[in-house]
Parts: sequence; C-alpha cells; structure tokens
Amino acid sequence: MIKWTPTANDVGEDIPICFIAQTTAEYQSELRCIIVVVEERQSKPNIVIANEAPVLGGFLTFTPKGKNPDGTIRMDSRFKASQIYTGSCSPASSWKCHQGDCGTITTSEYGETDPDHPGDNCQLQGFVTRSLQTDKPFDLLDQDCCWTYNTEDLGSWSMIAHIDLGRRSDTGNPNRSPVTTMPPQIRVPQNRPTTYNLLAHDPDGDNVRCRYGIKNNLECSTCKTVPGFTLDENACSLSFSGSSSSGVYVFELVLEDFPRQNTTLKYHDGTSTVKYPMSLDASDPLSKIPLQFLVRVGDAVPSFVLGEYIPKYITPTVHHGTFIRTSLGKEFSFPVSAVSTKSQIKDIEISGPLNIEKTFEYDTVTGVGKAMIKWTPTANDVGEDIPICFIAQTTAEYQSELRCIIVVVEERQIESDVECTDTTMTLYVSKSSIKGFNETNLRLNDPSCLVTTNGSHIIASVSLNSCGTQVEETVDEIIFRNEMTSFDHPHDIITREHQIEIPFTCKFSRKSRLSASFEAHKSAYLSTDVGFGNFTYLFEFYDSSAFTTVIDPKTYPIKLKLKDMIYMGIKVRSSLSNIRLFVESCRATPHDNPNDPIYYDIITNGCTKDKTTKVYSGSLKEFRFGLQAFSFIGNYDQVYISCTVLLCGAGDNKTRCAQGCTDSYNRRKRSMISDTQRHFISQGPLRLAGNSSGCPGFSLNRVIAVALLWPLLWLLEL
Ligand SMILES: *[C@@H]1O[C@H](CO)[C@@H](O)[C@H](O)[C@H]1NC(C)=O
Ligand SMILES: *[C@@H]1O[C@H](CO)[C@@H](O)[C@H](O)[C@H]1NC(C)=O
Ligand SMILES: *[C@@H]1O[C@H](CO)[C@@H](O)[C@H](O)[C@H]1NC(C)=O
Ligand SMILES: *[C@@H]1O[C@H](CO)[C@@H](O)[C@H](O)[C@H]1NC(C)=O
Ligand SMILES: *[C@@H]1O[C@H](CO)[C@@H](O)[C@H](O)[C@H]1NC(C)=O
Ligand SMILES: *[C@@H]1O[C@H](CO)[C@@H](O)[C@H](O)[C@H]1NC(C)=O
Repeated sequence: MIKWTPTANDVGEDIPICFIAQTTAEYQSELRCIIVVVEERQSKPNIVIANEAPVLGGFLTFTPKGKNPDGTIRMDSRFKASQIYTGSCSPASSWKCHQGDCGTITTSEYGETDPDHPGDNCQLQGFVTRSLQTDKPFDLLDQDCCWTYNTEDLGSWSMIAHIDLGRRSDTGNPNRSPVTTMPPQIRVPQNRPTTYNLLAHDPDGDNVRCRYGIKNNLECSTCKTVPGFTLDENACSLSFSGSSSSGVYVFELVLEDFPRQNTTLKYHDGTSTVKYPMSLDASDPLSKIPLQFLVRVGDAVPSFVLGEYIPKYITPTVHHGTFIRTSLGKEFSFPVSAVSTKSQIKDIEISGPLNIEKTFEYDTVTGVGKAMIKWTPTANDVGEDIPICFIAQTTAEYQSELRCIIVVVEERQIESDVECTDTTMTLYVSKSSIKGFNETNLRLNDPSCLVTTNGSHIIASVSLNSCGTQVEETVDEIIFRNEMTSFDHPHDIITREHQIEIPFTCKFSRKSRLSASFEAHKSAYLSTDVGFGNFTYLFEFYDSSAFTTVIDPKTYPIKLKLKDMIYMGIKVRSSLSNIRLFVESCRATPHDNPNDPIYYDIITNGCTKDKTTKVYSGSLKEFRFGLQAFSFIGNYDQVYISCTVLLCGAGDNKTRCAQGCTDSYNRRKRSMISDTQRHFISQGPLRLAGNSSGCPGFSLNRVIAVALLWPLLWLLEL
C-alpha cells in the first residue's frame, strides 16, 4: 500500500510514482508508473473589497514555519475581523506592510467562522503565508474605515503587529507571537460586575502583557482607556465594575510577549539584539500583536444568579485554558452546554480556525443549549497552538462567561502497531511520534496493568482476558478492544484532556476460535525454509532428566512447586540428516508472546542466563535442558516458555549453530545457505501449585489475526 499526502511544494506539479516487484532471486516484474496531478486546494477568497462593512473588532497572530526550499523564510499569519452579518461577511480589514521587509504573500485562504443570520455577527478570518528574504523585524499595519457604531463615536481603526523572526537563544527558533481569539461580540448587563479572561497564550512560554494601545494612528485610533473597566495587564483580564451607563465601548489593546530570561535574537546577517524580561525592560517586547474588540454594556439584569438570566455552563463543557492535543487530519470535537431558565439560549458563538464547524440545538423543556464543535487540522495548522473561544448567548442578549481552549496541533500521526496472537495483543507505540508526553502517565483500560518501554517504543501487552480488554462478538468474529490513554498528573494545573488515546483491537474469526478453544498444549511447529525443505519443531515438557516421558498435554497447565525441576526438550523433525538445531534464546513470559515486555531470561545468545539451568546431552537435532521452578512464576498467574530456534547445516563451522554461546548482541548476518530463519516456538503454561487464581487463558493454535491500526492514515486515492 503506497501512501502520500501532497504538500504545498507539490501544488501545480505532476508527480510521478513508479514501482516494480522484485524476488529474492532478483527477477523483476514489469515497471509501472503513475502520475499524480496535484491541484491547488479549492479556496474561496470571498473577501470582497467593494462592500466593506464596519468592524466589531479584529486581531492578528503569526507563526514562523521554518524555511522554504528556496531558502526564504516562511511565516504564517492569521487574522480575524468581525462585523454585523448582512448576508455576506467582508469587514473592512486589509493588512499592509508598514515598516521593514514584509516579504511577499505566497498563499492566502479566507473563510467565515460561525456565519449567522442577518443582524447577528460574523467573523471573517484570513490565513496568509509570507515568504521573506530576511529575518529582520517588520511591521504589518491595518488601517481602515470604520468601527461599527460605538459610544465614543470612533470612526477609523488602526492596528499594528510587530514581527521579529530572529533566532532566539533559548529555544533555538524564531519567536512565535502570543495566540488569541475572541468571539465577535461581548455583552455585559450594566449592573453586573464581570471579569473576562482574555486569551493570551504564548506557545513559547513567554510572559504576555495586555495593555491599552498608546501609539496614535498605529496601535489605536483614539487611544483611550475605557471608564468602568479595569485591565489587569499581567493577567490579561478585563474587569467591569458593574456601574456604567449602557453603551458600546471600543477596546484597542496590544499583546506583547517578553522572555523569562535575557534572550538574544540572532539574525542571518550576523547582527543580534537582546530582549529582556518585562521586569528589566518593558519597552522592548519580542513581538506585539493587536487585539481590538467591542463591549456592549446593556440593560440591567434582574438577577445575578448563574443559570437564570445569565447562562451557566454545565457538564460536559470544557474548562477555560484546557489544552487539547491533536494531529494533522485527525478530527476532534468537544461539547459545550449552557442553561438559562429565565431567558432562552439563542446560540453558542465561537471563534476558532478556518473550517471549524458547529451544530447547535436548544431544548425548550430543560432550557439547555448544546453545541458540538468540530474541527480537523490541516497541514497549515501543524506546529501551531490554535485557540478556540466560545460564549453562550440568550435571546435577551445575556452572555455566559467567555471560555477559551488551546488546540496543540502536532505533525505526526501516532505511529503504532498491534501484534495479535491467540492469547495476547501487544501495542507498540513509537516514542518519537508522541514526543513531549510523560510516558509514565499512560494507562490501559485497567490502570493497574503495566505499560513498559524498550527505549524506542512504548509497549503494552495484555492477555485477551485481562487488563480491561473488552470482548465484542459478531456473527463471524470475536473482537478484543483495549485502549492506551494518558492521564493527568494529579498536580497539573492545566487539564490536558485527551493528550493521547490509542485504541487497539484484535479480531479473530469465530470459527477457528470455537473449534480450537481451550487447547492449551501446542503440538508441532511446521516450517519450510530454502534449502531445508519441510521440517517440524517439537517443544515438550518432560517428567524427569531421563527425557523419556513427555508430560501429558491433557494435564496442562503444568503445576509445579517452587524449586521443582522443569525439564524441557526441543526437537527438530526433518528428512534431512546433515542438519543441526540451535536454541539461541529462551525466556519465561507471563503471556504467550515471545515479545512480551515482561520476561525472565533463561538462555540468551546461546548462553545460559539462569543459574539453575542445566543443559543435558541430547543430539544435533535435540536440545534438552532443565531449570528450577522459580519465583518469577509465582508473580504471575502462569508463565510460558518461548524460545528462538534455528537450523544450520551440520558440516559448516561458520554457522550460528557452530558459534554456540557468543554473549554478544552483534548478530552475524544470516548466511543464506547454511542457516534458517529464526523461529519462535513456545510451550506452556506453567503454574505454581497452590496459586491457581485466575481462569486459564484462551489458547489455541495460531490463527490469522487482523490488527486494526489507529489512527487510520488517510489514503491517497489513486
Ligand atoms: C540580564 O541583562 C541585564 C542588563 O544587561 C543584566 O543587568 C542582568 O544581569 C542580566 N541577567 C542575567 C541573568 O544574565
Ligand atoms: C513523569 O511523571 C513522573 C511521575 O508523575 C515524574 O516523576 C517524572 O519526573 C516525570 N518525567 C518528566 C520527564 O516530566
Ligand atoms: C522495541 O520494540 C520494537 C517492536 O518490537 C522494535 O521494533 C524496536 O527495535 C525495539 N527497540 C529497541 C531499542 O529494542
Ligand atoms: C512441504 O509441505 C508442503 C505442504 O504440506 C508440501 O506441499 C510440499 O510438497 C512439502 N515439501 C517437501 C519437500 O516435502
Ligand atoms: C572448522 O574450522 C577448523 C579451523 O578453525 C578446521 O580445521 C576444520 O576443518 C573446520 N571444519 C569443518 C567441518 O569445516
Ligand atoms: C502465590 O502468589 C503470591 C503472589 O501473587 C505469592 O505471594 C505467594 O507466595 C504464592 N504462593 C505460593 C504457594 O507460591
């Protein structure tokens, strides 16, 4: 299966893909090629300059996105502007270069968030990619006519963003601006003291200050502070005293980020500059972005009780400041519910990225308004912290508290793999694909089950009948499901809900499972290898060191007392005479899975590892060994012994078999002719007598298992 997702660089090109099949004997199939015609994504630039409407507010944020293939610097900016909806959404807003080299616009995409009925609000947003020759600072300016009607009679508006893409000494990357967003309208009853937590999240972890604009005709048009409101610059909260006359007030704010330590910005031309924490120099931030909006102070509210006139959020609404992690192409959704018994919830207004979707319904009986907000990140969102804010509003124009969340969009799909055997399922998650997570905070359906790691992968191995594994039966299949999820650190202030969710599944055909159920003992392993023909491995437990009587498979699981000797024999049956068997490794595992992350080594690289292990004389085709039943067994319901075995030509002394115990992890390259592939064989289970808790695991001859991988990758439709 060949998959590919075109990137921006492939747009407009015809990309060839060729393939050819090849055998081990180096014969090749016919050569086939296809051409993938990559078209530009359909976008509707519905910014119609002809019919600009007065604005309700706006802002701009930016993210550096590394280098383009031609060596230029890529910077993405996002801006929004709101208006009263008139059937279309095209508020007067146009960002232009004010100072420095602002580069050239390479792509732009526009869309309306949450378009409303005429008379309500809408928000237009733009996503613009610029390509820059230099990383020196520059300013973008948006000046236009006009603010919508407001009490101060403010006409024109002016917003400026200061962008500096010098490489930071602390992060090694150019600075990212604070991120913010705001629904189109904020309304407050004139008698109700209210505090708004403005969203001012900094992806670099900088301190953000929110202040009133002061530079006339750049940061602001009137540059006034608004009476009756108090702005906490460091907390970025705006408090209303609850004693103002009704009216429409304009807020022209500036968000600035300051490093927490002295930080040098280095430029490609060799120059540099130092940025200081706010406490040392509050005049020179890393960047400046505008945040301008209106607050409508309306009629007095008869009661301050939440849930009467003022809508109250009810569960399962997310908390303000929640972080959600997601990745490219992965849809996520979250619900918002609010209740108001003495007013009717009309809408839950949202402000979020392009392509965000919302459904809203109101239940007249309970007075609950419910919205489901959905979004799927695209390639342009990767690497960004995307804010989403929402506010519930009633027909009488009372609003709930303003809440915002941050969606952290990561590049990679989580790389995971599932291995199914007849008794276990094992999930492997590549650590590099979930970088940034604390792997100790991962759990399965049953939190007491272990999640382990082997350095490169996080591994969860579960029996089909343990660790909260759920069983679902259909007519044809039995499906086993479990899920690896992350949980919060108990002392984390931020609820990082749903950081990781990796469901994993094994499916078995019902027929094979029923016909072979509760057949614990494995009879023989049939194999074929080039040069060796057909052969069979047999793995048996014996009752004594004489190796004459095989323990009756009907008595499995085999019960042992601590320190009892366990006798095992591995044999190969083959029509060839000049071959020899080699047992390279054996381990005890609690599940019938040779890759079980929980194991006890008995033989490794041909060397015995367990002190009680004895090797008895056998033959070239039979390996006999024994060891004492050990406490490892007692720690688990039962254990299996699984071994890696191979065959070699008996006469050749360069083979792995001839090497014997090597005590080295350096596996020699397999000689094609004189060694077979390694095979896993296992037998069991063994149990300590007196510890017979737990029911015997399902066990049957190996069946073909289908591993359902998640997340599903998007297939390129050829
Ligand atoms: C940061 O820079 C200021 C001004 O140069 C200096 O006084 C201060 O010691 C520096 N702080 C650190 C931690 O280097
Ligand atoms: C992960 O979490 C554990 C326990 O919660 C903590 O001891 C450990 O320091 C954390 N590791 C990292 C890298 O944050
Ligand atoms: C961890 O296990 C996976 C899956 O078996 C394997 O691909 C990977 O190489 C292992 N990593 C290490 C460091 O052993
Ligand atoms: C090996 O086994 C297969 C399947 O049972 C059989 O078709 C084939 O003829 C055997 N080959 C030899 C060399 O015995
Ligand atoms: C194995 O190697 C030794 C020398 O290391 C040589 O004398 C002997 O003939 C070889 N045996 C076989 C069967 O090739
Ligand atoms: C049974 O298992 C428990 C631990 O699960 C262990 O403490 C106990 O010693 C075992 N009993 C015997 C008889 O080995």
